[in-house]
Amino acid sequence: MTTDISASASGQLRLLGERPIHRLGFGAMRVTGPGIWGPPADLEGARATLRRVPELGVDFIDTADSYGPFVSEDLIREVLHPYRGILVATKGGLTRHGPDVWLPLGRPEYLRQCALMSMRRLGVDRLDLWQLHRIDPKVPRDEQFDAIAQMLKDGLVARVGLSEVSVEEIQAAQKFFPVATVQNQYNLIDRKSEAVLEFCEENGIGFIPWYPLAAGALALDSALAEIARRLKATPAQIALAWTLKRSRVMLPIPGTSKVAHLEQNVAAAGLTLSDEDFAELDRRGRAGGDRVASS
Ligand SMILES: NC(=O)c1ccc[n+]([C@@H]2O[C@H](COP(=O)([O-])OP(=O)(O)OC[C@H]3O[C@@H](n4cnc5c(N)ncnc54)[C@H](OP(=O)(O)O)[C@@H]3O)[C@@H](O)[C@H]2O)c1
Repeated sequence: MTTDISASASGQLRLLGERPIHRLGFGAMRVTGPGIWGPPADLEGARATLRRVPELGVDFIDTADSYGPFVSEDLIREVLHPYRGILVATKGGLTRHGPDVWLPLGRPEYLRQCALMSMRRLGVDRLDLWQLHRIDPKVPRDEQFDAIAQMLKDGLVARVGLSEVSVEEIQAAQKFFPVATVQNQYNLIDRKSEAVLEFCEENGIGFIPWYPLAAGALALDSALAEIARRLKATPAQIALAWTLKRSRVMLPIPGTSKVAHLEQNVAAAGLTLSDEDFAELDRRGRAGGDRVASS
């Protein structure tokens, strides 16, 4: 699959009303080892996947210092530096103590160090977009927001975003800095963040749904397979096309370590769902995917 697949078919989103990017991005968490710990089993495959990202018109990559940790940022730099028009968004504020273990740490001096070290690893003077991975409940949130505002003021970061937050938390952060993006878990069958998505839409904030494929489960969903067959697409593509159609501020970042899956996911940008299919998927998704395959 090489020909005319391009993320440009997903349209554009402007972060904070400026910096345009294509709405279908790439999540770089999967170019790491099991438990998002250490190097990937297939290092060459991971490199090839990253190399293919810009060739497919994808100009938004999401990563984090904690992916690996450091493995994802290091590989992105190795393969894609100096980035040539790609916006690399990273995150900080989570520490790693082993495979699948993620602990928030929001002390101001640590958040600043996260940004400084991401700059060093990615080889840039300023990060395009830095996201607070989690608000640390053990540290007053205003102290965390203040540290981020200072990073913006000092030019370490061009824009900032938040992850796994409520509308109330976004509003609290907005007192300190403009929120460019919000990254919450969201997909066809996980709709807990509908209110946050609506707030983002009303306020021109990019909404980055993580687990857009429910960590791969939607690629196997039989309810999606039915519509996919009719549209000559795959279930993963249907899930992504639905996500893109759901909102103009939506910026899905499907994650993969495989070139074939990347190509398949980007091709979803060119898939147009009818309003009827969208509504039917919406209805099934709210009821919970496979469990309603026969409804
Ligand atoms: N803010 C946060 O707290 C947070 C948390 C988690 C993730 N994220 C971000 O969100 C991104 C997306 O999340 P994710 O990677 O965990 O989940 P995802 O995109 O929902 O699913 C990724 C999984 O699905 C598989 N997959 C991808 N494309 C496929 C396809 N076309 N057909 C079949 N299987 C496919 C991948 O395996 P293969 O490698 O085998 O393709 C991978 O295991 C991450 O990369 C990361 O950047 C953010």
